[in-house]
Parts: sequence; C-alpha cells; structure tokens
Amino acid sequence: MSNRHHLPPISVVILLAVFLSPSPTESVKTNLEPGPISRFRDYLRINTAHPTPDYAAAVNHLTAFAATIPTLQIRTLYFTTPDKPLLLITWPGSNPSLPSVLFNSHLDSVPAEPSKWLHHPFAAHLSDDGKIYGRGAQDDKCIGMQYLEAIKHLKINLDYTPLRTVHISYVPDEEIGGFNGMAKLVESDEFKELNVGFVLDEGQASVNDEFRVFYSDRTPWNLVIKATGMPGHGSRMYDNSAMENLMKSMEIIMKFRENNFDLVKAGLAANSEVISVNPVFMKAGTESPTGFVMNMQPSEVEAGFDVRLPPTVHPDLMKRRIEDEWAPSWRNMSYEITEKGPILDYMGRPLITAIDDSNPWWSVFRQGVEEGGGKLGKPEILPSTTDARFMREKGIPTLGFSPMKNTPILLHDHNEFLETSVYLEGIKVYEHIIRSLSSFDGLLKDEIKVEDGALLMYIINN
Ligand SMILES: *[C@@H]1O[C@H](CO)[C@@H](O)[C@H](O)[C@H]1NC(C)=O
Ligand SMILES: [Zn+2]
Repeated sequence: MSNRHHLPPISVVILLAVFLSPSPTESVKTNLEPGPISRFRDYLRINTAHPTPDYAAAVNHLTAFAATIPTLQIRTLYFTTPDKPLLLITWPGSNPSLPSVLFNSHLDSVPAEPSKWLHHPFAAHLSDDGKIYGRGAQDDKCIGMQYLEAIKHLKINLDYTPLRTVHISYVPDEEIGGFNGMAKLVESDEFKELNVGFVLDEGQASVNDEFRVFYSDRTPWNLVIKATGMPGHGSRMYDNSAMENLMKSMEIIMKFRENNFDLVKAGLAANSEVISVNPVFMKAGTESPTGFVMNMQPSEVEAGFDVRLPPTVHPDLMKRRIEDEWAPSWRNMSYEITEKGPILDYMGRPLITAIDDSNPWWSVFRQGVEEGGGKLGKPEILPSTTDARFMREKGIPTLGFSPMKNTPILLHDHNEFLETSVYLEGIKVYEHIIRSLSSFDGLLKDEIKVEDGALLMYIINN
C-alpha cells in the first residue's frame, strides 16, 4: 500500500474528464449490448482509490446490475459514516436454515500514479491484444463482478436455485486495514443473521496454469525499538551509549532476518512461511543547520521494522524474543508493537483454514474448481494481509481465491491489467464453485457449522 496521496494537477483532471466522457457511439453500443466485459470496464472506471474512494458510485453500479437478476435481495449497510457504505446481496436458498456461503470483495483500491501508466488507471482501456488496464483490475474488482455474472448465468440461463443461501459482500476500506469495513461487518447483528458457514475472499494471480488458493494470511506488526544511553562528547569512547545499544540489537535482528531469508533461498520455506523483518527507518543524532552535530553522541535513538508473522508462530513467543533479545530493558531499551488486527481466533487458535478432510468445505470448493475446468496449485499462506482474517477470527473457514491464471501479479503495481479471456474464464469457474458450494448437503444432518473442525493447528519450524 502506498501512502502517497498527491493531488493530480488541474490539467490531468481536465484531461481525465475529457477522457472519461464516453463518445456518443460508445454509449449507444454499451446500451445495446451490455456484456460482462463492458460491465467490468464500467466498474473499473469508478475511482475508488484512496484517499477519496467514490464508494457511492461503485455501490450504484453494482446495485443496478444486481437488480437485473431476479430474486436477489440488495441491502446497503452503514456501520460508520454515510460515505462508507457496505453492500450486501443475497440469493436466497431453498433451505435458508442451512449455514450460508459468503463471497466477499472490497470496493476500494490503492492509489495509482497516472503518469507512470501506459493507459489512464481509471479509463479501463481495452488494448488490441485483449488486456483491460485499470487500478483494481486484479485487486479486486474482477471477482466482485464475476460473482454477479456467475449468479446471473446460473439464475437466468440455467434456472438454478441454490440449496444454501448465497451472500455477496462488497466492503469498504480493505486497503487501509478493513477496520471500518469487514471488521465492523463481522461484529454486527446483520452478520450473525447471515449464518455464514464458509467464505471465499480475494486471492492473487498465478503466473502458471494452476489457480492459487490461500488458507491463511501473514500478520503485520509495526515494531519500533528505542535505546537510551548517556550522551557524551564525540571524542570519548565509553560503554553503553544509546547508539551502541541500538546497534547491538540491529546485529541480532539482522542475523535473525538472514536465517529466515536463508530458509527461503534454500527452497526450504516459502516467503510467506517465514517471519520477515525489514528495517524501515532509523532515527538518531542531533540536527544542525548543515546536517547533524558531529561531536555529540545522542542519548536517544530508535529504529522501526516491518515484521510479518506467519500463522504458525505464536505471537507471545515472538514478543518474548523481542523483549529478551531485540529490545531488552537491561540494555536500556524499550519497544512498541502496533498490531493490525487479530492474530488468533476467538478460541485462541491460529487463523488457519483447514485444507484437509477436517474441513468438508475444502473438498467441495476444490470439486467446484475442477468441474469448472480449473486446477488448484498447492495451497499457500498469503504473504500480506486481507479481510479474511476477520472471518477466520470468528472461526469461519475462509479461503482466498481469485481465478486468474497465466497472469503476471500486478496488484498495487503500475499498469495493473487483466486479460478478457482470463476474466471470462473466471466467471465460468465461479459458476461451478457457486453451484458446488450452494448445493452442498453434507452437513444437512446436524445443521452445524464446521467451526471446530475448521482450523488446523500445527506448528512448523518454530
Ligand atoms: C542503563 O542505564 C543505567 C542508568 O543510566 C546505567 O547505569 C547502565 O549502565 C545502562 N546499561 C546499559 C547496558 O546501557
Ligand atoms: Zn485486495
């Protein structure tokens, strides 16, 4: 996620306005044959990038399309302010008492720098070779529209009725932590009433011809460590200066980083399976008009790290390591961790969705993918973080999946694009997945949720 929020110069705004107003021929064509591609491109043209996402326009677009599909129920919920709507669409099942299936996507996207793109990030340019360029093309407006397209086909063309109720949620603010989006939804009474048994959320593109599936996310920690020490003249050598104390920690932390990175380099672990720790800032010294005061050793120094924990690491063990080795108080050091959401579920278990027989939804999902002609790669831990953690925190089995294969991974990158053929194939895959999950009657007997079987506890190299 980039935090750069430059306002575009006036000329760009004018240019964009001209660019975005459709030519008369284009609008006629759109009205006569509104197909999946034009609907997807219209969604991409809505600028829902931070810091000023146009959520209202996105919700209007989705609502207008959903309203063309019979029997869908459409609700807009507001958990915080009127500018942060959350759209909930429901396709009632023939047995609404069964736990339902939820398909989630987020409405927002990260910012884009138009000057660094081949085509304007909110023009949804379709190139001659069938690529649709746009911020959100992969992350994750594709799945948001594909869910609805698949349901439209199942309902209108195949007259299919689900056994279980199917819900689709469109949440705000995922890219800025989800605290005013999915985090609020899962705490709401409305969510309890949905009786969700299984969730599909966003995944990532695959560069080969197997789809990727994610059963857990890594958890980010912002770690700041501080060291204090006696200030002194720059000419004196003495023990335990603040800088010396910090540098001792730095050596230990960088050695730890090297050990984890070596595991990845040796092919023994995936990037997302190890603890990553990257230094992101150091703050020390006494400023002078020309730079820094050179003949004075500072009494306070600090350094910041982006730490990512795989779900197999217990947060308490990690905290003890930080306390004992990285910022020990006996070395006159202190630390602060800013956590970004839950790290264990409501029963104190790691946020892992089981990908074996203990989770019946897993094989039903896989079967749907295969019936749709797809193949799944080895299930992975997502190196970054998504809203899935909020559902897993509630004990609901949740998989990350975006059906994009043979596609470069361009989320948050310049020139994010998706090929039309990949997009259309994704709709087919969802048709089979939705059918498979919504007709699943394996749990009918007790009408139980699989909460207790859903999470697999295991510890790898701890
Ligand atoms: C910590 O601070 C105390 C008090 O200033 C000092 O006596 C001690 O030597 C310091 N220890 C280290 C390891 O910096
Ligand atoms: Zn996303």
